[in-house]
Amino acid sequence: MNNIHVLPEYSALCRAVAARIADLIRHKPEAVLGLATGSTPIGVYAELVRLHREEGLDFSQVTTFNLDEYLPMNPDSPQSYSHFMREHLFDHINCANWNVPDGTLKGDEEIHQFCADYEQKIADAGGLDLQLLGIGRTGHIGFNEPGSPQDSRTRLVILDSLTRADAADDFYGVENVPVRAITMGVGTILDAREIILMATGPRKAEIVQEALEGKITSKIPASFLREHVNAQVYLDESAASHLSEYSRPWLRANANFSDFDLRRRALIATSHELDKPLSKLTASDLQQAGVGALAHQVSSLEAAIQEVERDLQKRVEDDGNLPKNTSILCLSPHPDDDVICCGATLTKMAQNGNRVYVAYGVSGSNAVRDKDVLALLRAQHPRLISYIEDNAPPGQTTQDVFDVIRTEIFERESGAPDSVLLRNLKRLVREGEAGDGCRKMGAKPLFLDLPFYYVREQKTVPVSDDDVQIMLKALRETSPQIVMLTGEKSDPHGTHELCAQAFERAAEIYLEAGGAPFVRWEYRGAWEEYEVWEGDYFSVFEKELMETKIGLILDHISQLDPVFPGSTDAREFYERARDRNRANARQLQTLGVLPASRSFAPIYAEVFQIGK
Ligand code: F6R
Repeated sequence: MNNIHVLPEYSALCRAVAARIADLIRHKPEAVLGLATGSTPIGVYAELVRLHREEGLDFSQVTTFNLDEYLPMNPDSPQSYSHFMREHLFDHINCANWNVPDGTLKGDEEIHQFCADYEQKIADAGGLDLQLLGIGRTGHIGFNEPGSPQDSRTRLVILDSLTRADAADDFYGVENVPVRAITMGVGTILDAREIILMATGPRKAEIVQEALEGKITSKIPASFLREHVNAQVYLDESAASHLSEYSRPWLRANANFSDFDLRRRALIATSHELDKPLSKLTASDLQQAGVGALAHQVSSLEAAIQEVERDLQKRVEDDGNLPKNTSILCLSPHPDDDVICCGATLTKMAQNGNRVYVAYGVSGSNAVRDKDVLALLRAQHPRLISYIEDNAPPGQTTQDVFDVIRTEIFERESGAPDSVLLRNLKRLVREGEAGDGCRKMGAKPLFLDLPFYYVREQKTVPVSDDDVQIMLKALRETSPQIVMLTGEKSDPHGTHELCAQAFERAAEIYLEAGGAPFVRWEYRGAWEEYEVWEGDYFSVFEKELMETKIGLILDHISQLDPVFPGSTDAREFYERARDRNRANARQLQTLGVLPASRSFAPIYAEVFQIGK
């Protein structure tokens, strides 16, 4: 598609989309707009409100139709799309002709009639001039879930379980998310004269790639947009990151292979994709993989391959090139990201005479089950008991406090947040687990307990100065030469991204004030993994250390059968780590860069990107 616009950040994206809508309205004051809800278009609406207030953009003759609404749904409920549209747009502009599907309808007949009338109303208004869309992780547009036909019209639909899981936070639990909805059909959307699809953030990268580069199929309803004559796609860099243009730059027509890094990644990717050792690659293999130009641009393909092999061998750590006498700060957003993603490397680093600190970003209390707290209290867990003894209000015994907690757990309304007391007990559960892990790895824990975590609508609340100051203190206390950071931003609640924001702001202050520069190592493994050609450093280890690492992960007992497993991976975290680490090592074996003695032993590898 040549109508994909990639912009560096969300605000620029929203300004561009709002500018297009404003332009349409200025040329056609009675424009008919199709609108979407969800987190993606919020900034577009904010910009339209600004254009109305500051530049007099006039909506008085505009008619709008929203894509969808949950069923059942009262329009005044905070979760309703009707409420969303008033809050973000209609309460702030002069548009009277707005329509959102009715979530209060009951019988099938009534719903069927409403849907037919909605279609008719759109037609009577002259059809949609422009339809704004987000994309769901199932590939839905509107609530057209996988399987929706290309010619479907406005109708009653059943929501996909992934869609409901993604909405769970808004409803304080997936069980409260309605199962049904009314949505415009794919055909209704495709009838619009112009379509703008927006997607932002790393969690959308995979589905964006499938929708824009995979098969056009009802399994991914958004893929049908490619058959529309005027569909524009607006992405931020992270949503675009899986598109081949970005993830495999060597496939670009103008790729310049005089750049060693591009050559290295292209050859590793080719070797990996053809499942053939680097040393066996031929010019025709490269041709087949779409990088034939590489063979023409180097004087000797054999020499180019040998250069990459030598380089790669240096990147495969064999205890000899581990850092020594270095201060290493690993920033672990949740209390178990460290052990899941780099438990083996941290262990080796500590054994190799480095000072290893692990700073845990958030307490992780939201992911501890009430019943686990009750069980620990019942078993007189010393850490929890001494906290209660130290913090019992005057005149209350430990038993009284137990009763308060029990009453809270059994009698509160579903979705009600934890009291500060319960939250702190949950925090202590996780600090105990993480602290044990650090002791076993030989690292020193720092529990940052960043405050942003306790703000419910995390997604819309930026990190505060308090978060930044806490992070800054950790940097000053540890004066790191290496900082290990998460390279995965696809965790269910966006916590990694917010920790990263706090860190970046703190790092800027730290460095500006004369703090010594450090090298960044980025890790993955809890939610995703680097491709072998993305890795800069491969920390290879054997079965014994893998078993130690699994033990470290399993010590996070509160996270077995996790409350927030992510919606697409049924594996426990220790299984994800083991499978990913094994797959990484297998890939290195296929490339043919491991010493022969290691070629057949069951080995594992954690992968890092360095200095990005
Ligand atoms: C909203 C809608 C949905 C969303 C999609 C993305 O009216 O129909 O298709 O556009 O689920 O949601 P966000 O933007 O919250 O990621």
